[in-house]
Amino acid sequence: MSYTRVEHQGAVAIVTIDRPDKLNALSPEVLEQLASSVTELDRDESVNCIVITGGDEVFAAGADIQKMAQRTFQEVITNSTMPLWQQIAACRTPLVAAVSGWALGGGCELALLCDMIVASDTAEFGQPEITLGIIPGGGGTQRLARVLGKQRTMELVLTGRRVEAKEALRLGFVNMIVPKKRWPTDAIEFAQVVARRPPIAAKLAKQAVLAADEMPLDAGLAHERRLYELAMATEDRVEGMTAFLEKRRPEFSGR
Ligand code: COA
Repeated sequence: MSYTRVEHQGAVAIVTIDRPDKLNALSPEVLEQLASSVTELDRDESVNCIVITGGDEVFAAGADIQKMAQRTFQEVITNSTMPLWQQIAACRTPLVAAVSGWALGGGCELALLCDMIVASDTAEFGQPEITLGIIPGGGGTQRLARVLGKQRTMELVLTGRRVEAKEALRLGFVNMIVPKKRWPTDAIEFAQVVARRPPIAAKLAKQAVLAADEMPLDAGLAHERRLYELAMATEDRVEGMTAFLEKRRPEFSGR
């Protein structure tokens, strides 16, 4: 059974989670399909930006509670979904989450794993795992804490309270809100802006920004410098700078 769809609009690829009867609940099968689509698109030189999205009413309502309820402790240990989360996070191409409706539990974690989040004004985020007797297991405590800080993350993770789009924007964990009637068009248009940038520089920039979460400042600065030097070795930087000096639009080749 196929739970994801992939379509292309120019250099933007859109991966849609499509399991509406279960509110796009992220079963291991859904995560597997999502991860393999992302990996395949990441290897595709014609793709400069990947949008992960769901339906108009729901991005994803979290892990599949029906399946999770039957899992034994041994299964959780031996057959973890962790490698699938890591596979998506390893994507070098910029990832945009286009979120309309609920992004709960694993849905919120999936959005947070993306590099940017465009929300419709109906979007609602939350980590309700505590209400089920568990805690987030797809990166929620770590990625939320890096975005919101300890106190606010504690509040959301310990109460399971949901946050509407406006509050998410105020808290800084979505990049922008678009009106529902312009969703997902505006989210894809935003991805098109990223996709028009030189793709190697975009991948290097992504890698550099992500390093800020993982490295002390000195190591991060050194890492950024290496990546900058790599960018200087590309044909696209010659084209970008030449086009600027010649007062014309650059035509990037991805080389
Ligand atoms: N896993 C499996 N099935 C889920 C699901 C999930 N995370 N979320 C929703 N569903 C299923 C429901 O069981 C229901 O199935 P059914 O029609 O076969 O009974 C269907 O999707 C519709 O959900 P329902 O709860 O009836 O919709 P609602 O509009 O009243 O509420 C939510 C929507 C999202 C608020 C509610 O479904 C919810 O709280 N879901 C769980 C969110 C969660 O705790 N996620 C973290 C999991 S770790």
